[in-house]
Order: sequence, then structure tokens, then C-alpha cells
Amino acid sequence: MSLSLSATQPEVPADADEGVWLECIECGETFAPFADVRYTCDDCDGLLEVRYADLPTFDDFEGEGVWRYADALPFDEGVSIQEGATPLYEVPRLEDDVSVEALRIKHEGMNPTGSFKDRGMTVGVRVASELGVGRLACASTGNTSAALAAYGSRGGMETLVLLPAGKVAAGKIAQASLHGARILEVDGNFDACLDIVQELAGQGEAYLLNSLNPFRLEGQKTIGLEILEGFLADYDTVPDRIVLPVGNAGNTSALYKAFRELVQAGALDESDVPKLTGVQAEGAAPMVEAIENGADEVRRWDDVETRATAIRIGNPVNAPKALPGIRETDGTAVSVSDERITEAQRDLAREGIGVEPASAASVAGLRKLRAEGIVTRDERVACLTTGHLLKDPDAAAAAGRDPEPVPADTEGVLEHIRE
Ligand code: F0G
Repeated sequence: MSLSLSATQPEVPADADEGVWLECIECGETFAPFADVRYTCDDCDGLLEVRYADLPTFDDFEGEGVWRYADALPFDEGVSIQEGATPLYEVPRLEDDVSVEALRIKHEGMNPTGSFKDRGMTVGVRVASELGVGRLACASTGNTSAALAAYGSRGGMETLVLLPAGKVAAGKIAQASLHGARILEVDGNFDACLDIVQELAGQGEAYLLNSLNPFRLEGQKTIGLEILEGFLADYDTVPDRIVLPVGNAGNTSALYKAFRELVQAGALDESDVPKLTGVQAEGAAPMVEAIENGADEVRRWDDVETRATAIRIGNPVNAPKALPGIRETDGTAVSVSDERITEAQRDLAREGIGVEPASAASVAGLRKLRAEGIVTRDERVACLTTGHLLKDPDAAAAAGRDPEPVPADTEGVLEHIRE
């Protein structure tokens, strides 16, 4: 099984291009990587993964940011705005409060457009230019559209984004707009947007840059590589567990791939692979349902709702990659209420870390699993916070303190603050 942690390095097929090729995770069919546009397997429509003839070890990485990991990527450089190299914050009070051996926050909100999507786009937009396509498109709950707009325009390409009308946070729309994307507001949810954009891409109207695109996940692998290097530097060991919010399950799939490749390269022991732990909002938790039921497939949820609009997703397209990732690493998946998400947003804010609601789901999920004893006291944990506070200013203002009107004189202000 190609998605097993103990998978061995495959034979290099004839259609490989400089040691890189695409392989179907279902039937094993291989394809040349850049000869033509393809998102899924021609034969069985299964998801594709990028494969490499040579896999790097930690010693091969040099430089900073996503392209530090060029040996684990299809190119040496991409369309870049200096993405990656995000902070791995210490949070001593939260660590104490949650009661684990170590807790670090990998804050992906510190990327150029304020989310982890930049890591995928620096690779994906480079592939688009390699393929010679002119127009890029995505469906998005917001962050993908912001990143696509920025990287697409940096790469000199036209961008088209399909968003669920009324369900995208203000900061994200502002970004897509200023970076020059054509924004199509769809009268439907994210899953409907993705159905449409897949059909447009299938008809050759645009190059699809959702996480269904296997190259995007290559860039997102670098989150896992950075977390592992950070823990090795500070604790001399990799984390026991990585907790992350789940929408389309692209990151879950990407982190799992990063670990599999390290194991195959002999750089990481199979028994040391961090437990991948996915968190969804209660109102949009199809992955959690599948994990809890031991199901091989995820049931599409048609009605989804959560304050964490970034993960308001009912049909996680990367589930076939992510379910084995959670199971093989001995991880789990858990859902959390919107109230707990907001509390976790405040917890992080107290440590000076500003995140959008979906990001805080990771911390809310960790708290829940720790309370249930599934996460134990002796664990070293990394929580992924995927997007910046300013992405969703309305959610931040609603979770925070209200401004207090005061008169325009010092006496009046003094009187007010002494009240
Ligand atoms: N967190 C944030 C802030 C996100 O924007 C997303 C996905 C996720 C978590 C979930 O990540 O899909 O890899 O499981 N946002 C996509 C978008 C869907 O359109 O911006 P995933």
C-alpha cells in the first residue's frame, strides 16, 4: 500500500521527469508530472501523489522558508513571497493549563498572506507556469483565494476564485480583491464551489489550485518538516503529536506524506512519527464521523455550519489520503463546539498569539482530548494555528472586549477608567 508508513521506495517509472512523477494512490498508475494537466488518475479517478526517485534526509536541507526543503519538492525554487519559516511559539501558561510535557504553537498565520496556503501556492503556481497555463482558479472558504490571488498575480497570471456568498471572512475577501482576483460569489456552500471549479478545470477553463492538486500538498509538507526540525533543535526529539484543524484534510495528508518520506529516507523511525490529530467544528465534522465509525469513506455532509468559516466544509476531498494518515500514525480526530473554539482563541490571544477561529480549533481539540485522557500528561505536542487573527476581524471583535466610549478630556477618561 503506497500510503503505508512502511511503504518502500517505488521503482522509477519511464514517465518520470528528472526523478519526479505522479502516482495514483488507488491503482498505482504513474504519469509524467508536467507533460499535461491532470488532477486525478486517468484510469480510476483516484487522488494523485508526487513521487521522487531520491528522498532527502534532514542533512540535505539548507536555507530558510519553504525552499529550504527544495530537495523534498519538485523544483529548486518557486514563485515566492518568502513563505514558511513561521514561528514555533512557546506558550508556558497554556502548556501548564492544558497540562502536557510541552506545548508549542506553529503559527502559520505568520505567512505572507496570513495562512499556510502560501506554502502550497509557491509550489502550485510554479507548476502552473511550467505547464504554461494562463488562468488559475480555486474554490475557497477564503484563505486559499487570498493566497491564490497574491501568488497568481506575482506569477503574472489571471486568477478566478469561487466563494460561498456571505460565508467568507472580511480580511480574506479584501486580500483576494486587492491582489486582483475575479471574485465569484456562489449561492451555495464551499463544497458546491469546489464541484463547479472542478468542472471548469476539467473543461480546460482554468488550472485548479485547490488541495486536490497534488503539487500544493508538496509545499504544505514543509509545515511538518519545520515542526520536526524545531522540536529536534529544542527538545532533541520530534513531537509525540501534532494537532491541526481539518477542512479538506489537505494539511493532514501533506504532513503524513512528509513523515512517510522521512521514514522511507531513513531519517525518521516509524515508531517516532507524530500522532496526527485532526480537529473539526461540531457543525462540520465528516472526518471525525468517519474516524469514530472506523469507516473507509467519509459521508458528505450537505448542511454544515460553524463560526470557524475556514473549515465550514462537508466533503473533505483529501479524505482518502488523510484517513490512513490519522490511523497509521495512531492519531485520532475530534470535534469541538464553536464556544470552545472561541475560548481557545482567547487562550491563544492571552499568550499574544492572534489567530482566526478555525486555527483555534486545534487548541480546543487538544484541551478536549487531554480532558478525556486520550492525550496524556507526558506528551510533547505541537498545535497548528493555520490563519491570522486579522483574517476574520469580526470574529476577533466578537470574542474580545468591546470598545468603551469616553469624553474627549482627561478628567472624563480618568473617571471612566476608575469606575
Ligand atoms: N484552517 C484554515 C485557516 C483554513 O483556511 C483551512 C482551509 C483549514 C484550516 C483546513 O485545512 O483543508 O488542509 O484541512 N481552508 C481552505 C480555503 C478550504 O479555501 O481557504 P485543510
